[in-house]
Amino acid sequence: MPSMVDRGQQQRQRALLDNIPDMAWLKDRESRYLAVNSAYLKVAGLSERDVIGKSPGEVWEPAIAEVYLRTDRAALKSGRRRRYEEARPNSRGELCWFETIKAPIRDDAGHIIGTVGISRDISERKAAEDELLRSRAQLRELSSHLQSVREEERARISRELHDELGQTLTAMKIELIWIRDHLSSPQNILCSHVDRLVSVADRSVTDLRRIAADLRPMILDELGLVSAIKWLTQNSAEMSGLEICLSFDREDIVYDAAVSTAVFRIIQESLTNVLRHGQARQASVSARHVADELRLEIADDGRGIDNTALPQDRLGIVGMRERAYALGGSVDVSGSPNGGTLVSVRIPLTKRC
Ligand SMILES: Nc1ncnc2c1ncn2[C@@H]1O[C@H](COP(=O)(O)OP(=O)(O)OP(=O)(O)O)[C@@H](O)[C@H]1O
Ligand SMILES: [Mg+2]
Repeated sequence: MPSMVDRGQQQRQRALLDNIPDMAWLKDRESRYLAVNSAYLKVAGLSERDVIGKSPGEVWEPAIAEVYLRTDRAALKSGRRRRYEEARPNSRGELCWFETIKAPIRDDAGHIIGTVGISRDISERKAAEDELLRSRAQLRELSSHLQSVREEERARISRELHDELGQTLTAMKIELIWIRDHLSSPQNILCSHVDRLVSVADRSVTDLRRIAADLRPMILDELGLVSAIKWLTQNSAEMSGLEICLSFDREDIVYDAAVSTAVFRIIQESLTNVLRHGQARQASVSARHVADELRLEIADDGRGIDNTALPQDRLGIVGMRERAYALGGSVDVSGSPNGGTLVSVRIPLTKRC
């Protein structure tokens, strides 16, 4: 009783299709619909009569039908399962996103006789992804804004400390020396107190210069990035005993202020990390210019870095990455082949310097 077998088979196929919560269908080699499930009809707002035996051009508007025919052909031609995402209006006219899988169907001899497709509404996931991207972009903008506000604030405080307080302390020292020189007797006990005050003023000026330079070295604004890096590496080497090699392929470039600040801060954080974590004896800073791009490498010969076990609550490397990202560049931190750690930085320079 072949018809009863067919009928049973059809019922089983129907039960299978209708219990798939996503849109599902079967098509022949010419892309004509052989079967569609109830989820398909519901989402498309159609009845079986509108679909079965028809090709996509008779069911969907031309632009959408064209996509369906093209993706059917791709599955038929490749003989493999294909996955893609598409946007199309639902039955209420709202634009929805779908993730669609199409795969060839083969007969017993292995010949492709049609395709099977499943399409899932991923609009909510897409909206969540878009929201995530939007909020990440907003956070990046905020972080970049905060960085530059902080930098401006540091520059202002540094200048004021240096120019205002520095001048005041120097004036005070000159007055103290005048008083000492005009005391009636050099043996006067007042003389030794004034001498001590002169030394206090001297020490204060030294401290003040150090604090001002830590906030933002004036050399960066006055003499530029290359001089500032030379000052920074020399200073770090003197303070720590670390041997630091420095190389530039070009010293004649005047960088944009944003690039100078970012590069200076990235090198500063990298060298701080070498001193704090590296247990290194030597470090090197090199700057090369390759096709409108500044490429920096800060390397050390210390204990190396395990990228898979970095603490989540630290911000040094994250901050370096964000600075480079804001300029369209990147920072990569990895264990270097000869041991130690390598920080590789790329900053595009087009239209910037
Ligand atoms: N040159 C280096 N050698 C060895 N380990 C390093 C080196 N640089 C960074 N690390 C490791 O990477 C971790 C993260 O560095 P990151 O600069 O982000 O944070 P941090 O220096 O610990 O703290 P901070 O937020 O104050 O910078 C460090 O805690 C350290 O374990
Ligand atoms: Mg750090």
